[in-house]
Amino acid sequence: MAVTRTFSIIKPDATRRNLTGAVTKMLEDAGLRVIASKRIQMTREQAEGFYAVHKERPFFGDLVTFMTSGPVVVQVLEGEDAVARNRKVMGATNPSDAEEGTIRKTYAESIEANSVHGSDSEENAATEIDFFFDKDEIVG
Ligand code: CMP
Repeated sequence: MAVTRTFSIIKPDATRRNLTGAVTKMLEDAGLRVIASKRIQMTREQAEGFYAVHKERPFFGDLVTFMTSGPVVVQVLEGEDAVARNRKVMGATNPSDAEEGTIRKTYAESIEANSVHGSDSEENAATEIDFFFDKDEIVG
């Protein structure tokens, strides 16, 4: 299977509870390698741009408010079949649907405060990586 890349965000509910290391360990234990990482305070403009596909959804306003409520850690992850591998270790969007042993089952507080974001396709991964990282910030 090919080594590919995906994009991850450790969300404000997780950074607030000092879970950056714990979440990253679960990603690494799942066979993903962190090849870029930075802790940032997302601006409203960035959050609205990043989540533009959800603009018409009823939860959009709350989502943007939540994602700008504290620091996040944006990461590029590399590994075999990275998008699917990351989605598997993250678990379902709603933690009450997530499998045991997944990040969201272990740490998420709600469907909104669900600890992590991960790209849903290789195409979106490339777009999302470009949104937050310059090429020279990624060291594979
Ligand atoms: P994420 O993978 O970051 O992409 C969009 C986010 O919207 C999703 O994770 C959820 O945390 C958040 N969200 C909030 N409310 C809902 C909802 N009702 N349905 C789906 N996603 C939601």
